[in-house]
Amino acid sequence: MDLPSLPENQLADEAQCRQAAELLRDAQVVAIPTETVYGLAARADQDTAVASIYALKNRPTFNPLIIHCATLDQAATVGLFDERAKAVAHAFWPGPLTLVLPLHPSANISRLATAGLGTVGVRVPAHPLARAIIAACDVPLAAPSANPSEAISPTSAAQVISGFRGRPGPALVVNGGSCEHGLESTIIDLSGPQALLLRPGSITPEMLEPLLPTLSLAEPGSIITAPGQMKRHYAPTHTHVRLNARHVESTEALLAFGPTPLEGAKMTLNLSPKGDLREAAAHLFAYLHELDQPEFSAIAVMSIPEQGLGLAIHDRLTRAAARS
Ligand code: TXA
Ligand code: MG
Repeated sequence: MDLPSLPENQLADEAQCRQAAELLRDAQVVAIPTETVYGLAARADQDTAVASIYALKNRPTFNPLIIHCATLDQAATVGLFDERAKAVAHAFWPGPLTLVLPLHPSANISRLATAGLGTVGVRVPAHPLARAIIAACDVPLAAPSANPSEAISPTSAAQVISGFRGRPGPALVVNGGSCEHGLESTIIDLSGPQALLLRPGSITPEMLEPLLPTLSLAEPGSIITAPGQMKRHYAPTHTHVRLNARHVESTEALLAFGPTPLEGAKMTLNLSPKGDLREAAAHLFAYLHELDQPEFSAIAVMSIPEQGLGLAIHDRLTRAAARS
Protein backbone atom coordinates (compact mmCIF):
# COMPACT_ATOMS: atom_id res chain seq x y z
CA MET A 1 0.00 0.00 0.00
CA ASP A 2 1.39 3.36 -0.97
CA LEU A 3 0.59 5.56 2.02
CA PRO A 4 2.78 7.87 4.06
CA SER A 5 3.33 6.57 7.58
CA LEU A 6 1.07 8.35 10.03
CA PRO A 7 2.35 9.88 13.22
CA GLU A 8 0.12 8.33 15.93
CA ASN A 9 -0.70 11.72 17.39
CA GLN A 10 -1.63 13.49 14.17
CA LEU A 11 -5.39 13.07 14.22
CA ALA A 12 -7.58 13.78 11.22
CA ASP A 13 -9.01 17.29 11.01
CA GLU A 14 -12.14 18.61 9.34
CA ALA A 15 -10.44 18.92 5.97
CA GLN A 16 -9.40 15.26 6.05
CA CYS A 17 -12.94 14.20 7.00
CA ARG A 18 -14.21 16.15 4.00
CA GLN A 19 -11.61 14.45 1.80
CA ALA A 20 -12.70 11.05 3.19
CA ALA A 21 -16.35 11.82 2.45
CA GLU A 22 -15.49 12.88 -1.11
CA LEU A 23 -13.53 9.70 -1.77
CA LEU A 24 -16.36 7.62 -0.30
CA ARG A 25 -19.00 9.37 -2.40
CA ASP A 26 -16.77 8.61 -5.37
CA ALA A 27 -17.11 4.84 -4.55
CA GLN A 28 -13.61 4.51 -3.09
CA VAL A 29 -12.67 2.56 0.04
CA VAL A 30 -11.53 4.53 3.10
CA ALA A 31 -10.43 3.22 6.50
CA ILE A 32 -12.26 5.08 9.26
CA PRO A 33 -11.96 4.97 13.04
CA THR A 34 -14.88 3.80 15.14
CA GLU A 35 -15.14 3.37 18.91
CA THR A 36 -14.79 -0.42 18.45
CA VAL A 37 -12.16 -1.08 15.76
CA TYR A 38 -11.19 0.63 12.48
CA GLY A 39 -13.59 -0.04 9.61
CA LEU A 40 -12.87 -0.46 5.90
CA ALA A 41 -15.71 1.68 4.62
CA ALA A 42 -17.42 2.16 1.27
CA ARG A 43 -20.83 3.50 0.27
CA ALA A 44 -23.34 0.74 0.93
CA ASP A 45 -25.61 1.58 -2.00
CA GLN A 46 -23.14 0.75 -4.80
CA ASP A 47 -22.12 -2.77 -5.73
CA THR A 48 -18.76 -1.72 -7.15
CA ALA A 49 -17.82 0.17 -4.00
CA VAL A 50 -18.83 -2.78 -1.80
CA ALA A 51 -17.03 -5.23 -4.09
CA SER A 52 -13.84 -3.25 -3.56
CA ILE A 53 -14.08 -3.91 0.19
CA TYR A 54 -14.39 -7.65 -0.35
CA ALA A 55 -11.48 -7.56 -2.79
CA LEU A 56 -9.14 -5.61 -0.48
CA LYS A 57 -9.98 -7.85 2.47
CA ASN A 58 -9.94 -11.02 0.39
CA ARG A 59 -13.18 -11.78 2.20
CA PRO A 60 -15.52 -14.66 1.35
CA THR A 61 -18.46 -13.04 -0.38
CA PHE A 62 -21.07 -14.92 1.64
CA ASN A 63 -20.07 -12.94 4.70
CA PRO A 64 -22.37 -9.89 5.02
CA LEU A 65 -21.13 -6.45 6.09
CA ILE A 66 -22.42 -4.16 8.83
CA ILE A 67 -24.14 -1.03 7.52
CA HIS A 68 -23.06 2.10 9.44
CA CYS A 69 -25.51 4.98 9.72
CA ALA A 70 -25.24 8.50 11.14
CA THR A 71 -28.60 8.41 12.92
CA LEU A 72 -31.42 6.09 13.93
CA ASP A 73 -33.59 7.79 11.28
CA GLN A 74 -31.10 6.82 8.59
CA ALA A 75 -30.88 3.28 10.02
CA ALA A 76 -34.67 3.04 9.77
CA THR A 77 -34.36 3.37 5.98
CA VAL A 78 -32.14 0.26 5.98
CA GLY A 79 -33.73 -2.15 8.46
CA LEU A 80 -37.24 -2.72 9.81
CA PHE A 81 -37.42 -1.73 13.48
CA ASP A 82 -40.12 -3.20 15.68
CA GLU A 83 -40.82 -1.68 19.14
CA ARG A 84 -38.20 -3.94 20.71
CA ALA A 85 -35.50 -2.88 18.23
CA LYS A 86 -36.40 0.80 18.66
CA ALA A 87 -36.07 0.53 22.43
CA VAL A 88 -32.66 -1.15 22.18
CA ALA A 89 -31.44 1.40 19.60
CA HIS A 90 -32.58 4.31 21.80
CA ALA A 91 -30.78 2.83 24.77
CA PHE A 92 -27.44 1.98 23.13
CA TRP A 93 -26.97 4.10 20.01
CA PRO A 94 -24.74 5.72 19.11
CA GLY A 95 -22.53 2.93 20.41
CA PRO A 96 -20.88 -0.46 19.98
CA LEU A 97 -24.01 -2.49 19.18
CA THR A 98 -25.12 -3.99 15.84
CA LEU A 99 -28.73 -5.02 15.28
CA VAL A 100 -29.60 -7.69 12.72
CA LEU A 101 -33.05 -6.75 11.42
CA PRO A 102 -35.28 -7.65 8.48
CA LEU A 103 -34.00 -5.73 5.44
CA HIS A 104 -36.28 -2.76 4.70
CA PRO A 105 -38.15 -3.58 1.45
CA SER A 106 -37.12 -0.26 -0.09
CA ALA A 107 -33.61 -0.13 1.37
CA ASN A 108 -31.11 1.25 -1.11
CA ILE A 109 -28.37 -1.21 -0.13
CA SER A 110 -26.19 -3.33 -2.40
CA ARG A 111 -27.15 -7.00 -2.32
CA LEU A 112 -23.47 -7.74 -2.09
CA ALA A 113 -23.27 -5.90 1.24
CA THR A 114 -25.99 -8.09 2.75
CA ALA A 115 -24.67 -11.19 0.95
CA GLY A 116 -28.15 -11.60 -0.49
CA LEU A 117 -29.74 -12.23 2.91
CA GLY A 118 -33.22 -10.99 3.84
CA THR A 119 -31.72 -9.43 6.96
CA VAL A 120 -29.25 -6.61 7.51
CA GLY A 121 -26.76 -5.81 10.26
CA VAL A 122 -26.92 -2.10 11.09
CA ARG A 123 -25.31 0.18 13.64
CA VAL A 124 -24.84 3.86 14.52
CA PRO A 125 -21.24 4.24 15.70
CA ALA A 126 -20.31 6.70 18.46
CA HIS A 127 -16.88 7.83 17.25
CA PRO A 128 -17.19 11.54 16.34
CA LEU A 129 -15.05 11.16 13.18
CA ALA A 130 -17.08 8.16 11.97
CA ARG A 131 -20.31 10.08 12.55
CA ALA A 132 -19.00 13.21 10.84
CA ILE A 133 -17.83 11.23 7.81
CA ILE A 134 -21.07 9.23 7.43
CA ALA A 135 -23.13 12.40 7.82
CA ALA A 136 -21.01 14.19 5.21
CA CYS A 137 -21.42 11.28 2.76
CA ASP A 138 -25.17 11.32 3.20
CA VAL A 139 -25.35 7.57 2.46
CA PRO A 140 -24.90 4.61 4.82
CA LEU A 141 -21.46 3.01 4.74
CA ALA A 142 -20.72 -0.70 4.66
CA ALA A 143 -17.68 -1.38 6.83
CA PRO A 144 -16.08 -4.57 8.04
CA SER A 145 -13.07 -4.35 10.31
CA ALA A 146 -10.13 -2.84 8.42
CA ASN A 147 -7.93 -5.96 8.28
CA PRO A 148 -7.29 -8.56 5.62
CA SER A 149 -9.70 -11.47 6.13
CA GLU A 150 -9.02 -13.63 9.22
CA ALA A 151 -6.32 -11.28 10.57
CA ILE A 152 -6.48 -9.29 13.77
CA SER A 153 -8.84 -6.30 13.80
CA PRO A 154 -6.92 -2.99 13.86
CA THR A 155 -7.43 -0.57 16.75
CA SER A 156 -5.13 2.18 15.45
CA ALA A 157 -4.44 3.81 12.09
CA ALA A 158 -0.88 2.46 12.18
CA GLN A 159 -2.20 -1.10 12.45
CA VAL A 160 -4.46 -0.57 9.44
CA ILE A 161 -1.47 0.57 7.43
CA SER A 162 0.75 -2.30 8.54
CA GLY A 163 -2.04 -4.82 7.78
CA PHE A 164 -2.18 -3.74 4.14
CA ARG A 165 1.56 -3.25 3.64
CA GLY A 166 2.67 -4.80 0.35
CA ARG A 167 -0.87 -5.27 -0.97
CA PRO A 168 -3.61 -3.01 -2.30
CA GLY A 169 -5.22 -1.03 0.51
CA PRO A 170 -7.75 1.75 1.12
CA ALA A 171 -7.44 5.10 -0.66
CA LEU A 172 -7.10 6.86 2.70
CA VAL A 173 -6.68 5.92 6.35
CA VAL A 174 -8.37 8.45 8.65
CA ASN A 175 -6.45 8.66 11.90
CA GLY A 176 -8.81 8.85 14.88
CA GLY A 177 -6.36 7.62 17.49
CA SER A 178 -6.73 4.39 19.46
CA CYS A 179 -10.18 2.83 19.56
CA GLU A 180 -11.95 3.26 22.89
CA HIS A 181 -13.37 -0.27 23.14
CA GLY A 182 -10.91 -2.24 21.02
CA LEU A 183 -13.39 -5.07 20.39
CA GLU A 184 -15.92 -5.29 17.57
CA SER A 185 -19.52 -4.40 18.33
CA THR A 186 -21.90 -6.73 20.10
CA ILE A 187 -24.26 -8.25 17.50
CA ILE A 188 -27.81 -9.19 18.39
CA ASP A 189 -30.27 -10.71 15.98
CA LEU A 190 -33.73 -9.15 16.32
CA SER A 191 -34.98 -10.34 12.95
CA GLY A 192 -37.16 -13.03 14.53
CA PRO A 193 -39.21 -13.32 17.71
CA GLN A 194 -36.31 -14.77 19.71
CA ALA A 195 -33.52 -12.25 20.40
CA LEU A 196 -30.15 -13.92 19.82
CA LEU A 197 -26.66 -12.84 20.79
CA LEU A 198 -24.58 -13.55 17.67
CA ARG A 199 -21.33 -11.93 18.79
CA PRO A 200 -20.44 -10.83 22.33
CA GLY A 201 -18.90 -7.38 22.74
CA SER A 202 -18.75 -4.35 25.02
CA ILE A 203 -22.52 -4.19 25.36
CA THR A 204 -22.89 -7.27 27.55
CA PRO A 205 -25.90 -9.61 28.01
CA GLU A 206 -26.26 -8.16 31.51
CA MET A 207 -26.67 -4.65 30.02
CA LEU A 208 -29.21 -5.88 27.46
CA GLU A 209 -31.22 -7.99 29.90
CA PRO A 210 -33.67 -5.27 31.05
CA LEU A 211 -34.80 -4.69 27.44
CA LEU A 212 -34.28 -8.23 26.12
CA PRO A 213 -35.05 -10.57 29.03
CA THR A 214 -35.12 -13.66 26.80
CA LEU A 215 -31.86 -12.93 24.94
CA SER A 216 -30.12 -16.22 24.30
CA LEU A 217 -26.62 -17.03 23.20
CA ALA A 218 -26.39 -18.37 19.63
CA GLU A 219 -24.37 -21.57 19.51
CA PRO A 220 -20.78 -20.71 18.53
CA GLY A 221 -21.08 -23.15 15.60
CA SER A 222 -24.44 -21.87 14.34
CA ILE A 223 -22.94 -20.35 11.25
CA ILE A 224 -26.30 -20.08 9.48
CA THR A 225 -27.40 -16.97 11.37
CA ALA A 226 -23.94 -15.42 11.69
CA PRO A 227 -22.12 -16.31 8.50
CA GLY A 228 -19.08 -14.28 9.53
CA GLN A 229 -18.63 -16.01 12.81
CA MET A 230 -16.06 -18.37 11.42
CA LYS A 231 -14.20 -20.48 13.89
CA ARG A 232 -10.77 -19.40 12.76
CA HIS A 233 -10.63 -15.63 12.84
CA TYR A 234 -8.29 -13.02 14.23
CA ALA A 235 -5.48 -15.50 13.71
CA PRO A 236 -1.96 -14.11 14.09
CA THR A 237 0.02 -14.65 10.91
CA HIS A 238 3.56 -15.27 12.24
CA THR A 239 2.96 -17.45 15.28
CA HIS A 240 0.03 -19.11 17.05
CA VAL A 241 -1.99 -18.61 20.21
CA ARG A 242 -1.94 -20.99 23.20
CA LEU A 243 -4.83 -20.46 25.62
CA ASN A 244 -5.18 -20.78 29.40
CA ALA A 245 -1.43 -20.90 29.97
CA ARG A 246 -0.36 -21.92 33.48
CA HIS A 247 3.33 -21.75 32.66
CA VAL A 248 5.30 -20.06 29.90
CA GLU A 249 8.33 -21.16 27.84
CA SER A 250 11.35 -18.88 27.37
CA THR A 251 10.71 -18.96 23.59
CA GLU A 252 7.12 -17.75 23.99
CA ALA A 253 5.52 -14.34 24.27
CA LEU A 254 3.08 -13.93 27.14
CA LEU A 255 -0.25 -12.15 26.98
CA ALA A 256 -0.84 -11.70 30.69
CA PHE A 257 -3.86 -10.65 32.70
CA GLY A 258 -3.96 -9.50 36.30
CA PRO A 259 -1.48 -8.56 39.01
CA THR A 260 0.62 -11.75 38.94
CA PRO A 261 1.81 -12.43 35.38
CA LEU A 262 3.64 -15.73 34.76
CA GLU A 263 7.40 -15.38 34.69
CA GLY A 264 9.97 -16.48 32.11
CA ALA A 265 8.50 -15.35 28.79
CA LYS A 266 10.67 -13.82 26.07
CA MET A 267 8.36 -10.81 26.09
CA THR A 268 5.28 -9.98 28.16
CA LEU A 269 2.38 -7.62 27.59
CA ASN A 270 -0.24 -7.37 30.32
CA LEU A 271 -3.82 -6.78 29.12
CA SER A 272 -4.67 -5.28 32.49
CA PRO A 273 -2.32 -5.47 35.49
CA LYS A 274 -5.25 -4.55 37.74
CA GLY A 275 -7.45 -7.28 36.24
CA ASP A 276 -9.95 -4.89 34.65
CA LEU A 277 -11.87 -6.51 31.74
CA ARG A 278 -12.66 -3.20 30.04
CA GLU A 279 -9.01 -2.26 29.95
CA ALA A 280 -8.15 -5.78 28.75
CA ALA A 281 -10.65 -5.59 25.88
CA ALA A 282 -9.29 -2.24 24.75
CA HIS A 283 -5.73 -3.67 24.60
CA LEU A 284 -6.53 -7.13 23.21
CA PHE A 285 -6.07 -6.69 19.46
CA ALA A 286 -3.25 -4.17 19.74
CA TYR A 287 -1.27 -6.53 21.98
CA LEU A 288 -1.99 -9.62 19.87
CA HIS A 289 -0.79 -7.60 16.91
CA GLU A 290 2.40 -6.57 18.71
CA LEU A 291 3.20 -10.12 19.83
CA ASP A 292 2.54 -11.64 16.42
CA GLN A 293 6.20 -12.12 15.50
CA PRO A 294 8.03 -15.14 14.06
CA GLU A 295 10.65 -14.97 16.86
CA PHE A 296 8.03 -16.28 19.34
CA SER A 297 7.20 -20.00 19.28
CA ALA A 298 3.70 -19.08 20.49
CA ILE A 299 1.69 -16.40 22.25
CA ALA A 300 0.76 -17.92 25.60
CA VAL A 301 -2.39 -16.35 27.03
CA MET A 302 -3.25 -16.44 30.71
CA SER A 303 -6.82 -17.36 31.56
CA ILE A 304 -9.39 -14.58 31.69
CA PRO A 305 -12.66 -14.76 33.66
CA GLU A 306 -15.61 -15.58 31.40
CA GLN A 307 -18.07 -13.09 32.85
CA GLY A 308 -19.43 -9.87 31.38
CA LEU A 309 -16.94 -8.47 28.92
CA GLY A 310 -14.74 -11.52 29.55
CA LEU A 311 -17.16 -13.48 27.35
CA ALA A 312 -16.31 -11.32 24.34
CA ILE A 313 -12.57 -11.44 25.05
CA HIS A 314 -12.76 -15.21 25.37
CA ASP A 315 -14.69 -15.49 22.11
CA ARG A 316 -11.98 -13.55 20.19
CA LEU A 317 -9.12 -15.46 21.81
CA THR A 318 -10.71 -18.84 21.03
CA ARG A 319 -10.99 -17.86 17.37
CA ALA A 320 -7.43 -16.52 17.35
CA ALA A 321 -6.24 -19.89 18.70
CA ALA A 322 -8.18 -22.07 16.23
CA ARG A 323 -5.77 -23.84 13.86
CA SER A 324 -8.20 -24.56 11.03
O1 TXA B 1 -17.45 -3.05 15.60
C1 TXA B 1 -17.77 -3.52 14.50
O2 TXA B 1 -18.83 -4.12 14.32
C2 TXA B 1 -16.77 -3.30 13.36
C3 TXA B 1 -16.72 -1.80 13.07
C4 TXA B 1 -15.90 -1.47 11.86
O3 TXA B 1 -18.01 -1.29 12.99
N1 TXA B 1 -17.18 -4.03 12.19
C5 TXA B 1 -17.06 -5.38 12.12
O4 TXA B 1 -17.43 -5.91 10.91
O5 TXA B 1 -16.68 -6.08 13.04
P1 TXA B 1 -17.07 -7.38 10.44
O6 TXA B 1 -17.46 -7.42 9.03
O7 TXA B 1 -15.67 -7.70 10.76
O8 TXA B 1 -18.06 -8.28 11.22
C6 TXA B 1 -19.43 -8.25 10.87
C7 TXA B 1 -20.14 -9.43 11.41
C8 TXA B 1 -19.82 -10.68 10.61
O9 TXA B 1 -19.61 -11.75 11.52
C9 TXA B 1 -21.11 -10.89 9.81
O10 TXA B 1 -21.34 -12.21 9.49
C10 TXA B 1 -22.14 -10.35 10.75
O11 TXA B 1 -21.54 -9.21 11.29
N2 TXA B 1 -23.35 -9.94 10.05
C11 TXA B 1 -23.52 -8.89 9.23
N3 TXA B 1 -24.77 -8.89 8.70
C12 TXA B 1 -25.39 -9.97 9.21
C13 TXA B 1 -26.68 -10.54 9.05
N4 TXA B 1 -27.59 -10.00 8.24
N5 TXA B 1 -26.96 -11.67 9.73
C14 TXA B 1 -26.05 -12.22 10.55
N6 TXA B 1 -24.80 -11.76 10.74
C15 TXA B 1 -24.48 -10.65 10.07
MG1 MG C 1 -13.74 -8.63 11.23
